[in-house]
Amino acid sequence: MATALIAQLTDPHIVANARLCLNQIDTASFLREAVETLRRMPVAPDAVILTGDLVNDGRVNQYEHLRVLLAPLPMRVLLMPGNHDDRTALREVFPEHDELGRGDTCDFVVDVGAVRVIGLDTLVEGEAGGDLSIRQLEWLEHTLSRAPRRPTLLAIHHPPFATGIGHMDALGLSASASTELERIVAAHPQVERVTCGHLHRTISRRWAGTVVATTPSVAHAVALDLRNDAPSAWNYEPPAVTLHHWNGTALVTHQLATGDFPSRRYG
Ligand SMILES: [Fe+2]
Ligand SMILES: [Fe+2]
Repeated sequence: MATALIAQLTDPHIVANARLCLNQIDTASFLREAVETLRRMPVAPDAVILTGDLVNDGRVNQYEHLRVLLAPLPMRVLLMPGNHDDRTALREVFPEHDELGRGDTCDFVVDVGAVRVIGLDTLVEGEAGGDLSIRQLEWLEHTLSRAPRRPTLLAIHHPPFATGIGHMDALGLSASASTELERIVAAHPQVERVTCGHLHRTISRRWAGTVVATTPSVAHAVALDLRNDAPSAWNYEPPAVTLHHWNGTALVTHQLATGDFPSRRYG
C-alpha cells in the first residue's frame, strides 16, 4: 500500500548568524532542535515542507544562515515564502530548489509518494497580509482538475479563515482570495487537508468540505488571546513540527514537540 510521510516546519524566522530575532529570540537554536527531532524519528519523513516566514527580514545573509541550518536534512526540502520573505533573495540562495520557480510567485506541485503537495505563495511584497492572483487561482483549479483522485495536501502561509486572534486576522489572506480558494477547494474533494503557517500555533476548522489548520512555529508562539482588542504578543509555548502521514486511505496529521524530554516505555 502506498504511503507517505511529509514533515512540515513553519515560521522559523531565521536571522543572521549570531543574531537574535527581535533582539530576543534564538530562532537558529529552535530550528536546530526541529531538524534534530526529524532526524531522530524512527521512520524518516519522505520530504519536508517549510510553509513560510523562513527568515525574519528577507535578507540574503539570513537565507545563507537558513541554508546551513537545513543542511543536515537528508530528504527533499520544499521551501515556500511567507510575508517576512523576499522571493529574489530566497531564489538567489537556493538556486537548485526547482519548486521556487522563476515566475512572479513561488507556487509548486510536487508528488511525494502517493500524495500530491501543492504550495501556494501568498506573499505580497511590502505587506503583512496575503493574497492570491487570478492567475494563481486558475493555476490551482487547473492543477487540481488534472488529478482528481490523487490525495492532495495544499500548503499556504496565510490561513483562509478568521482565527479569532484579531491582530493576526488583520494580517490575513484577503477576503476575495479566501472566497475563491474556498470555492475551488470545495469542488475538489481530493484535497485531504489545507495546512497553513503564519499563526505560530495550532488552530483548525471545517472548511470547504475538508480540514484546514494552522500549525505551530518551530520557534516562538503567538499568544492565544481571543479578546477583540487583544495586544500583539508572543511567548515560549513548546514549539513543534507537524507530520502528515498518508496511510493508504487517509491523511492523518500529528504534532511532535521539539527538543529533549524524557521518554519511557509502558510495561
Ligand atoms: Fe511568522
Ligand atoms: Fe507570517
